[in-house]
Amino acid sequence: MQTIKLNNGIEMPIIGYGVFQVSPEECERCVLNAISAGYRLIDTAQAYYNEEGVGKAVTKSGVNRDELFLTTKVWITNSGEKKASESIEESLRKLNTDYIDLLLIHQPFSDYPGTWRAMEKAVRDGKVRAIGLSNFYPDRFVDMAEYAEIKPAVNQLKTNVFSQQWEAEAEMKPYGTRLMAWAPLTQGDPDLMTNPVIRALAEKYEKTPQQIALRYLIQRDIIAIPKSANKERMSQNLDVFDFALEKEEMESFISLEKPANPDFSHRNPKLVKFLLDYDRQFNPANKK
Ligand SMILES: NC(=O)c1ccc[n+]([C@@H]2O[C@H](COP(=O)([O-])OP(=O)(O)OC[C@H]3O[C@@H](n4cnc5c(N)ncnc54)[C@H](OP(=O)(O)O)[C@@H]3O)[C@@H](O)[C@H]2O)c1
Repeated sequence: MQTIKLNNGIEMPIIGYGVFQVSPEECERCVLNAISAGYRLIDTAQAYYNEEGVGKAVTKSGVNRDELFLTTKVWITNSGEKKASESIEESLRKLNTDYIDLLLIHQPFSDYPGTWRAMEKAVRDGKVRAIGLSNFYPDRFVDMAEYAEIKPAVNQLKTNVFSQQWEAEAEMKPYGTRLMAWAPLTQGDPDLMTNPVIRALAEKYEKTPQQIALRYLIQRDIIAIPKSANKERMSQNLDVFDFALEKEEMESFISLEKPANPDFSHRNPKLVKFLLDYDRQFNPANKK
């Protein structure tokens, strides 16, 4: 597996397996399948409510812990120094591990500077190897990166062939922060299958449009974490290292950028309120 070097010298796989919206019951099976398909990076989050499934799969997989790279994220309701510290302990327990490879602040809301201080302490205490952000668009990102003693190793943003994040990437560069793509397969946007640029490349390289989309990201040195519940598609999503897009082909993606959805903007108060209320609505523990 190709790796990428973070700004603290740690190497992480450039492709991983994401488990958003994988039910706690399904998660163990999916992660076991992913590890047997060859994934070594697993991306979960406190707010996916499936960290225990990841932990069980990691233990059962028989793969040495130091060959795996686990990412999780602190949710908004655990923000602030004290609560974040406690939640890191809980994530370690659920993941059944002594350390987290990469820990992110999931959303730029509530007391996230306090969360960052707890994360920096977890690094100093040897509980976390690298820390970063998620959904910190350029203004919030620069604010946090300037505040931080330990500069963010990654920023996980919605990034794919239709949402290319050039501006975000440019703002992150001075801090050595790597872009990590969520929704790398566009979350099933039907245009991925019909877009003529992508179709032509898929035909030329005898790959699927999804494989072209992933290849585009890794050729930009962007870490991608595609999700699939299907074993065959998990393997297909890893099978992107035996071809390379040409320079002009990479440039041809620029015209594919689509306008961002204003309803899903982190600057839209409705989305902020939805996310602030997310845990109350979706945490299975609240439904008991
Ligand atoms: N930081 C954040 O705020 C944030 C937000 C969202 C997601 N994420 C992370 O990013 C990961 C990936 O994002 P995502 O799950 O939203 O979207 P995604 O990976 O772009 O797309 C997942 C969808 O693509 C389908 N799919 C996967 N491989 C395929 C293939 N080879 N051919 C055709 N269809 C395929 C999956 O269906 P099947 O399962 O049926 O294959 C699923 O419906 C998440 O799991 C999570 O770890 C982070």
